Order: sequence, then structure tokens, then C-alpha cells
Amino acid sequence: MADGRTALVTGGAGFIGSHMVDRLLELDYKVVVMDNLSTGKIKNLNSGAVFHHTDLTQPAMAEIIQREQPDLVFHMAAQTSVTQSTKDPIGDANANVLGTLRVLEASRRVGVEKIIYSCTGGALYGDPETIPCPDDAAIAPVSPYGMSKWVAEQYLAFYFRQYRLNFTSLRYGNVFGPRQDPNGEAGVVAVFSLAMLEGKQPQIFGDGTQERDFVSVFDVVDANIAAIGRGDGMAMNIATGEVTSVNRIFQMLRSITGYKWGPLHAPQRTGEVYRIALDWSRAARELNWSPKINLEAGLQMTVDYFRESMNLSGNLSGNSGGGVPSAG
Ligand SMILES: NC(=O)c1ccc[n+]([C@@H]2O[C@H](COP(=O)([O-])OP(=O)(O)OC[C@H]3O[C@@H](n4cnc5c(N)ncnc54)[C@H](O)[C@@H]3O)[C@@H](O)[C@H]2O)c1
Repeated sequence: MADGRTALVTGGAGFIGSHMVDRLLELDYKVVVMDNLSTGKIKNLNSGAVFHHTDLTQPAMAEIIQREQPDLVFHMAAQTSVTQSTKDPIGDANANVLGTLRVLEASRRVGVEKIIYSCTGGALYGDPETIPCPDDAAIAPVSPYGMSKWVAEQYLAFYFRQYRLNFTSLRYGNVFGPRQDPNGEAGVVAVFSLAMLEGKQPQIFGDGTQERDFVSVFDVVDANIAAIGRGDGMAMNIATGEVTSVNRIFQMLRSITGYKWGPLHAPQRTGEVYRIALDWSRAARELNWSPKINLEAGLQMTVDYFRESMNLSGNLSGNSGGGVPSAG
């Protein structure tokens, strides 16, 4: 399938990016990664990939793209914290808007075939009127993160119209699975799983009735692969269409891990959506994609991963086990 082609994965040392790298290597692509390791980790990264420790906000990144001449770009690097974006919207836009613009400009110059962009569905539509939220619902972000991801998507559409640089933008729900950072902000499944395995009390921000659309990282990787040859010049939701409350996630993980206690509660955070699920009918039609991994099985895989990592390296957590139900 790869035919000697080169795929660049920006953010390839991160949670979703590292799984993308694994899959592309399996498919025989030459894989190049650009990552500043701000949240990504070398231990996530497959040794079969060529790694450039670089920041997309720096002009030197263009020289790397020039040298590597990728055929495909999976643009996954981003400032991913909703909370951080509310504290520093300029830093967020620098990484997510200007960083993307640098990727686009460098890609155009070397004649990249297609860019597949990791956008957000969870943080793009605000609290939508219709659930599951259709692909063409009004855009109404409630965080600078949602804005910056949206503006970057608009730049992709502009480069497509203006320069015929092909793209697909995939708007994810709340992605979860192995390797998600349990010390990060958005990964409520990772945060709860690890805290429960370590016997620490997980913290829920708000009352836990807020609902999200949880999609497995493996389904997200499948969607990226499907987008290599389909869905040109389009944006679409990648999710399950199902709402699941944070309390339900807590209960499911409780029974998988055998944890015995209840959660701690902390005040709701700003910039968080209350209730969302995403309609994925455009992805079904255009990419012939559907989510394959049900929530129960996906949670079990995630807990298994953390259990194994703990056995290998002891205590993994760097904080008290607090979990933020971010909208991704
Ligand atoms: N995880 C989710 O639920 C979710 C939902 C919707 C969209 N997304 C999007 O998917 C992509 C991947 O997210 P993730 O969950 O794997 O997060 P992550 O934080 O694990 O991955 C992001 C990666 O980008 C790198 N990075 C950040 N800023 C960079 C910069 N300026 N230059 C170079 N590298 C940089 C980080 O070191 C990290 O490896 C992001 O674009 C995110 O916005 C994620």
C-alpha cells in the first residue's frame, strides 16, 4: 500500500500520533516524526520512525520538511489543553494556528499529496442543539482551543481552494486508549484508570453528569488511514454518536479495576462543554468508516495497558489522580 512513500506525523510522540506511527510502519511507509516533546514521550515512539526533535512554531521546521519530502502529512501536533488555552490563548494560537500554517506552507512548497488533520469535534460546536451533533452544525467554540483548531481547519480549506493542497480534517470526539497521558488534562479514562489501579481516589470536576462521546484511539487511527485515499477537501466527525456520562465511565472503570471507593468532586472548569456526541454519518459515507471498538472493550484495553505499565515501571502518576472531563 505504501509504495515507498514517506509519511510525516507531527506530534508522533504523543498519544494518538504514536499509534498512527505504529500503523504506518506496519503498512510499510517510511515514517518521519516531528515533535517538541512538550507532552509527547520518546518511550511512546516506535524506533522504526525517523525522529526530529523540533518545534513547529520555529522556522527551522520548514527545512526538515524540505529535506524529508513527505508524500503525506498527518498533522497531529497541537497545544491540546483546553484549560491551558484559556490561560494563554496567544500561546495556544501560536502552536495551533501558526504552527499549522507553517506545516501548510512547507507542505505546499514540497508538493505534499495530502494533509490529514486531527481536529476536534468535542470542542468545536459548543453545546449543540442536536445530539448526536451533525457534521454541518454551527461552529461555536467555548474555548480558545476550539477556536484555534477551527481556524487551522479553515487554513486547510483555504490552501485546498487556493493551491489545491489536498486535505481531510477529522473532528474527533473524546479519544481514549493505551498511552494517553494519565497526568494530562483531557484523558479522563487514563486519569481514572491509573488512579484506581494505584488505589488513589479519582477526582471528578463538576457533578459527573456531563456527557461525552468516547472513541477508541484505534478507531481514530483507522479513520486516518481511510482518509489517505478518500474524503478529499472535507471535514467530518469521528466518534461513536453515543453520549456517556463521566459518572458512567467512573462506574465502568470501577468494575474493571476492582476499585472500591467513590470519586472526589471539584468545581467544574471553564471552557468545558456540558453534553456532546457526534454524528459520524459523513465519515461512514465518505471514508467507509465506522467505530469498531465498543466502550467496554476499549476501557478494558486501556486498563490492561496501565496495569502492564505499572508492573514494568512501578508508580506512573505524577499527581494526585485528578480527572478533567475535557471535550477534546
Ligand atoms: N485526545 C483527544 O481526545 C483529542 C480530541 C480531539 C482532537 N485531538 C487532537 O488530536 C491531536 C493529538 O492529540 P493527543 O491527544 O495525542 O495529544 P498529545 O498531547 O498526546 O499529542 C500532541 C503531540 O504534539 C506535540 N507538540 C505539541 N506542540 C508542539 C509543537 N509546537 N511542535 C511540535 N510538537 C508539538 C506534543 O509533544 C505531543 O507529542 C491534537 O491535534 C489534538 O488537538 C485530540
